[in-house]
Amino acid sequence: MNRRQFAKFLVLTSAGMFVGNLWILIRSWLTGETAWPARPVALVSEIPVGGSRLFNYPGPNDPCILIRTAENEFAAYSQKCTHLSCAVTYAPQRARFECPCHQGYFSAQDGRVLAGPPQRPLPRILLQRQGDRLIAVGVDLQTERS
Ligand code: FES
Repeated sequence: MNRRQFAKFLVLTSAGMFVGNLWILIRSWLTGETAWPARPVALVSEIPVGGSRLFNYPGPNDPCILIRTAENEFAAYSQKCTHLSCAVTYAPQRARFECPCHQGYFSAQDGRVLAGPPQRPLPRILLQRQGDRLIAVGVDLQTERS
């Protein structure tokens, strides 16, 4: 392969990737949907009331926290503080998430900011229950944006 063929290969490959990304973007705009993976994150029987469990969603580097607030109530949020991305921890006795970096507090009920420097709520992870399994099926972008 000479230099000209290699340059042609690079240009065509870049053009193909650009068109592919453009298609994904247009499809996302038209449907208004983002394709989230469905991923089992825990067994109901593993988590006591007041307990929590860490998992990653939607990607392997997206830490999240699942909490059980009552016998049949579960909620999950991104574990990244919306201030500067420190990991929040669950404080069941105070029904809130606490960020140790700058004392940011979020409601365990809906992820809204209770106190501290964060300006946005914790993004909520959408869950579905299938028997004993809890499955993450999406991220609520409304809470992420508001
Ligand atoms: S990083 Fe959480 S309050 Fe600053």
